[in-house]
Amino acid sequence: MKLSVADVAVKGKRVLLRVDFNVPLSGERVVDDTRIRAALPTITDLLKRGARLILATHLGRPGGEIRPELRLDPVAARLSELLGRPVCKVDEVVGREVEEAVRGLAEGEVLMLENIRFEQGEEANDPDFARLLAQLADLFVNDAFGTAHRAHASTAGVAEYIPAVAGLLMIREIEVLSRCLEQPARPLAAILGGAKVSDKLQVLHRFLELTDTLLIGGGMANTFLAALECPLGDSFYEEDSLEDARDILEASEDSNCCLQLPVDLTVTRELKPHSPFKNVAVGEVAEGWKAVDIGPETASLYSDIVAEAGTILWNGPLGVFETAPFHRGTEKVARAVAGSRAFSIVGGGDIVAALEGFGLADEIGFISTGGGATLKLWEGAALPGIEVLQDKE
Ligand code: 3PG
Repeated sequence: MKLSVADVAVKGKRVLLRVDFNVPLSGERVVDDTRIRAALPTITDLLKRGARLILATHLGRPGGEIRPELRLDPVAARLSELLGRPVCKVDEVVGREVEEAVRGLAEGEVLMLENIRFEQGEEANDPDFARLLAQLADLFVNDAFGTAHRAHASTAGVAEYIPAVAGLLMIREIEVLSRCLEQPARPLAAILGGAKVSDKLQVLHRFLELTDTLLIGGGMANTFLAALECPLGDSFYEEDSLEDARDILEASEDSNCCLQLPVDLTVTRELKPHSPFKNVAVGEVAEGWKAVDIGPETASLYSDIVAEAGTILWNGPLGVFETAPFHRGTEKVARAVAGSRAFSIVGGGDIVAALEGFGLADEIGFISTGGGATLKLWEGAALPGIEVLQDKE
């Protein structure tokens, strides 16, 4: 259990709060502010208790270069709207301008640093850069769960130099995502989709140990079907992961988990909106056709399984949901998850976007702000941004 910011005194202290405001932008506008809203409880709590708050986040992957389109001004403006108070933003991450701005911060005021990934030292977790960041503050609070799987200067390195505790969002993410595997209401059903088996190998193995049913969809289902030598026509699958897929299928035989692959597939000749399609049984995908969604029988089967579950974990869409009508499998299962009595937990940008598009996000028990971080936690891996935080006595 990590020490929460709620348990430490912050009045008058300079607090460096790492948030994950890696949000989609369209020009000067934040298109989806979910991650900013998710950090508001920590931010408002710190401000109410008289902290002098310094916010740090990355945006995109500028790779240590200044990229004007990835400056944080639109993010600061959106945060200011949500807080209903000014958010002063500096154009640097460290250095004299920043130090002066921090000196001028009164209790209950907030300052946002420039995109932390404009600095080479950030992703390299350079100790000198981490020390410079740490010198700005008396306390480090990490609320950036979505970036907790990265060992960067602002997520891990800085904790070498000043006391480090978890933000309220971080605490909630760790609690919910861990509890659902440690003490789930059974049956525990997991749904894994998305394009690649190779991205999810560890989590597949862990879910075989811990869940009762593992439902597979999306492009990764094709790789399993290819491993079983089902003809797949022109479908995408990962040639390099066939051996891994076979290992997982073999491991499932010795586990108590029922690993379920699609029984039918929606196929098309061309992946574009409203292109002609048909539904075929697994094993009947002809040359020139590609699988782009689970078929209706599979969607019904998966829906029946989640309807009976006590807990549902979901990462990754079950088809190419961005291209109508190949959202149908994902949508049908999403409706079953939303209508189920189970506590449902969803993580990963794509599936969250799909649920929002279906108008179902509010029906989900918990939506994680993490993508890669959620998967890592479910794998049972140590997350550097969490490891460095103080433990609760
Ligand atoms: C994310 O969007 O998943 C996090 O912000 C981490 O971003 P990264 O994959 O660029 O490290």
